[in-house]
Amino acid sequence: QSSAASRIVSQAATPPVSVVGIGNKVAKPDYSEAKIVLAMVGLPARGKSYLSNKLMRYLKWLEYDVKVFNVGQLRRSRARQKAQQSGQREDHTASYFSHDNVEATKLRDQLASDSLEMLIQWLHSGGNVGIHDATNSTVSRRQQIVNRVAKEKGFVTIFLESTCDDPAIIAANVALKVSSGDPDYKDMSREKAHQDFLRRIKEYEAVYETITEPHLSYLRIKNVGSQVTVCRINGYLQSRIAFYLMNLHLKPRSIFFSRHGESQFNVEGKIGGDAPLSERGMKYATALPALITDNIGDAPLTVWTSTLQRTIQTAQHLSYNKLTWKSLDELDAGVCDGMTYEEIEQAYPEDFANRDEDKFNYRYRGGESYRDVVIRLEPVIMELERQENILIIGHQAILRCLYAYFHNLPQADLPYIKIPLHTVIKLTPKAYGCDEERYTLPIGAVDTHRPKPGMTQPKVAPTIGREYYGDKQ
Ligand code: F6P
Ligand code: PEP
Repeated sequence: QSSAASRIVSQAATPPVSVVGIGNKVAKPDYSEAKIVLAMVGLPARGKSYLSNKLMRYLKWLEYDVKVFNVGQLRRSRARQKAQQSGQREDHTASYFSHDNVEATKLRDQLASDSLEMLIQWLHSGGNVGIHDATNSTVSRRQQIVNRVAKEKGFVTIFLESTCDDPAIIAANVALKVSSGDPDYKDMSREKAHQDFLRRIKEYEAVYETITEPHLSYLRIKNVGSQVTVCRINGYLQSRIAFYLMNLHLKPRSIFFSRHGESQFNVEGKIGGDAPLSERGMKYATALPALITDNIGDAPLTVWTSTLQRTIQTAQHLSYNKLTWKSLDELDAGVCDGMTYEEIEQAYPEDFANRDEDKFNYRYRGGESYRDVVIRLEPVIMELERQENILIIGHQAILRCLYAYFHNLPQADLPYIKIPLHTVIKLTPKAYGCDEERYTLPIGAVDTHRPKPGMTQPKVAPTIGREYYGDKQ
């Protein structure tokens, strides 16, 4: 009898340990008490939408229900409707945003308040964090928000002011606005759009009031992370948001993901364990340094591995600083560790079916679920945001979780993301989401991806090199 077979027998004979949630679907954490109105503050082109979307991506990855309510978008969609009815288009050039334009100022205040109403309704219907993406640039506008939200029991308002005195960042944001096919400028030449947007900024500057109201809960972030002011922020989620924002930066950099080279367990179809690399896996480890150097040149890079020998062996020829993270160890398969999928199906047929049914939530007996792994990877994400060029040599489930964060992929698709062996995935953060390139080395390896039974077209990652906009509104 093979050792694997005797292993199953002894494991199957062991009664399941009685620990809550073991071998079962693990319920989503109860975040129903979290009701936060996060109101953005800032001049146009200060990265408010960037921060809103980035924060949304992070919190959604942690399974909070988050939605951005963009006032500019509401303004445009209402204007479109009006134009369809009356045949006349409203003027939304710079003069519309002038404080002297009494009529338009009223309209804009109304839009901001309608948008806030929609946000509040959405929080009532189960949302956790509603982001009010508007300029909210005056004391009176902010007070209106505070007064309205105060009527809702248990709702909290925090402001996030984004300031920026770096001309390069402002210029990049302006360029993005006029070049991204923004509906405000779709009928204008680039040059005219550029001039108009600069005038719009001037109109806002004329009345802009930075947050000084001592009674408000706020965060002020300067040049995306270079300086963060925190005032009256308390509570778990609020502090977490503050900490996340403190770690952001805009320096150009890339994040590389690679699974370890093919391991002996991969060849045998076994999961988990701490097996060494196969011969082909060793070849991958030898070939990896050239691929990385071709990509990064002599820019600094740090390599992160797990504590398992297959990732450490894969990193052995890389001459960069290395760090070993316990949190990067592969998903713990508990009593199924060291078994093949066929063996698991035989020994624990019900569990096996449950996992196929709901892979994100399924927790192995005595082991982990994908949800558990996401939670343990949160500090890794935080550190990744702080760092510059990083290469992570990790594992299939671990890299799926990290990849889903960067591409804003839903929890249900996460456990099926294709992260093949002997492939380097390069992610380069862009204004919204990430660019992606994949490099596969011509060294054969087994395919460890097990598609969801009955799913003919496995959900795959976004196409190479394409920006993924996720929930950008
Ligand atoms: O097969 C390689 C492996 O990294 C296992 O160690 C791990 O249990 C598995 O992949 C995770 O993938 P899945 O969640 O699809 O079973
Ligand atoms: C907008 O209409 O684009 C906008 C951001 O609105 P406000 O400045 O009124 O918040």
